[in-house]
Amino acid sequence: MHAFSTIPCLPEAASTPVGAEVYRGLTALPKNLSPWLFYDERGSELFEAITELPEYYLTRTEREIFAQYADEILAAAGDDRLTMIELGAGTAAKTGLLLAAAVRRQERVSYYPIDISVSALREASSRIGEELPQVAVRPIVADYTTELDEIPAPACRRLVLYIGSSIGNFEPGDAAAVLRKLRGQLAPGDLLLLGVDHIKDRATLLRAYNDGAGVTAEFNRNVLTRIQRELGADFRPRLFRHRVRWNDRESRIEMHLESLVSQEVAIPALELTVGFRRGETIHTENSYKFTPETAAALLSRSGFAVRREWTDGRRWFGVYLAEAA
Ligand code: AVJ
Repeated sequence: MHAFSTIPCLPEAASTPVGAEVYRGLTALPKNLSPWLFYDERGSELFEAITELPEYYLTRTEREIFAQYADEILAAAGDDRLTMIELGAGTAAKTGLLLAAAVRRQERVSYYPIDISVSALREASSRIGEELPQVAVRPIVADYTTELDEIPAPACRRLVLYIGSSIGNFEPGDAAAVLRKLRGQLAPGDLLLLGVDHIKDRATLLRAYNDGAGVTAEFNRNVLTRIQRELGADFRPRLFRHRVRWNDRESRIEMHLESLVSQEVAIPALELTVGFRRGETIHTENSYKFTPETAAALLSRSGFAVRREWTDGRRWFGVYLAEAA
């Protein structure tokens, strides 16, 4: 005797990347959504605004490190000609400092920004084109987490930039997998410049993700607006509260959306109704924080050896130059 298995039959929208992720995350327990969902057009704008907030020290501090040490970083990268590749480049706002330093050492630089956002890459290309005509910008539209075979392989040594604490969004195992996959695309002697946020006092960390003007709250809730628009959901974003917590055991900031009431939300495109208890949360982001030791450990278990590191006066942010071992 055997039972018939039930073949799940989901609506078509559940097989688009957004539909599949929302279906997975909102039927999971505890509920969660991947942070890449934040970055629709509005979300990308809100993130740009976050980087300028007084509480959000990350961008400013990393830029400070580049402003002070760009020449040293490029010198430590070696004497021969380098090609620069940037994972998740976005609008490449801070990269100019490194490109300018490269231009001071070698006349011409090829720069390959990789990002999923066409508009961000356009902005990056036009700005760099104006400010640094010696840089040949060759944008690549791709998701570097799934399409890493796209890493360009020119004749000269490669310096891959993975800055802005972007690696912090991944669980430790996934972070190592992303870096190991990158390592597989590189040749011995190629370099990685990794920017990570450091562990610091709790209050500073919490404030960076819960700013007074409420921009981060808006950024967090924007994921619900996106699901409304793209999947027809009847979310009322105001019935969800922005929640931030420091998870000391995991060394990460967590962002959640907490349901203020007991409610049901219909998502017609997924033929799904999601129930929320009052106080139940959707876990929307992890932002892992490192020490110089845990950063070096992540790099070494991914096949990289730290060559040098730079930090700011308060040691709030770290920039690690690592060699494909
Ligand atoms: C773009 C992943 C580096 O984790 O600090 C900012 C995203 N989330 N405020 C971060 C973010 C809330 C940011 N990263």
